[in-house]
Amino acid sequence: MKNINSNILSIAPMMDRTDLHFRNLMRLISKNTLLYTEMINVNTIIHDQNKRFMIEDDCQNPIALQIGCSDPILAQKAAKIFSKEKFQEININCGCPSNKVVNGNFGACLMKEPKKVGKMITAIREETDIPITIKTRIGLDNFDTDNFLEEFISELYTRNVKTVIIHARIAILSGLSPHENRTIPPLNYDRVKRIKKKFNEMDIIINGGVKNLLEAKWHLNSFDGSMIGRAAWDNPWMFSEADELFYNDKNNISRSSIINKYLKHANKYISMGHSQRRLVRPLFNLFYGIQGSKVWKQQLNEVANNKISINSIYDLASQLDEITEAAA
Ligand SMILES: Cc1cc2nc3c(=O)[nH]c(=O)nc-3n(C[C@H](O)[C@H](O)[C@H](O)COP(=O)(O)O)c2cc1C
Repeated sequence: MKNINSNILSIAPMMDRTDLHFRNLMRLISKNTLLYTEMINVNTIIHDQNKRFMIEDDCQNPIALQIGCSDPILAQKAAKIFSKEKFQEININCGCPSNKVVNGNFGACLMKEPKKVGKMITAIREETDIPITIKTRIGLDNFDTDNFLEEFISELYTRNVKTVIIHARIAILSGLSPHENRTIPPLNYDRVKRIKKKFNEMDIIINGGVKNLLEAKWHLNSFDGSMIGRAAWDNPWMFSEADELFYNDKNNISRSSIINKYLKHANKYISMGHSQRRLVRPLFNLFYGIQGSKVWKQQLNEVANNKISINSIYDLASQLDEITEAAA
């Protein structure tokens, strides 16, 4: 039997969402779920004075850094820098279809250049022994066959990559926006199942359309892990059951207890100049599906617009917890 690792459940990299603050919230809700950073371009890592890729003390592992790159030399330069951080994994984005990424010749279009990806892997490995993983799609544009995906995965296998995350849709590089690329191409889990059968020694993580933890768990019948993206943003509290369901590690928490801890993080960053708006953003959906969610969002809007202090939200969270408990 395989050792259980945090990869069995992960929250997907999402630009403009899975920033430090969202990750911090999610780490308070689940101790074990693997969290990905949003994609960070290697040029940013090389030149960024703010070091926004760094692991903060209070945002604990397991965290995976997702990088965007297409040049082995730049990848190696960046690796010199990020190798000093305590990331559990370095993930190379080979699945993003946005124009910006395609113009930079990375993301999904790297599927057509497996050798280049192989060279980047080797270049990064010269600087660090943090495991390298790949996030990709099942194909792109007219390359929508098992063979095409197999060729790509085969190169990764040869380079001794142990884990690949596969978003079970093709990417369409011309004509569809990133948003459409997450909805229009149909999900094809069967192709990913065939890849798993063929490359059985690799850990294949399924991604795309997983809506809740039960579905994520069900996918473990066929795959080595499930990655959830949008549903984690839409309903972060569902991860309060993740530690018990996936890691056999019961987590007794309430939303208000999480808010209490999150406020410490928020106040620290507000004193460093981050806006209240940025700090409350990850909290909007915390009461998803609960009576009172609308009032919660109204209050967060007031915080975002600096009409009231962020500290005021704790009392409302406690009240909503009480109402929820009474209704249960
Ligand atoms: C707002 C947003 C931003 C995203 N940014 C990234 C990114 O930076 N890197 C990446 O590999 N995928 C990115 N994705 C794709 C997700 O990681 C994931 O593959 C996709 O949403 C499918 O999973 P889901 O159906 O669980 O949402 C993004 C998705 C969303 C919704």
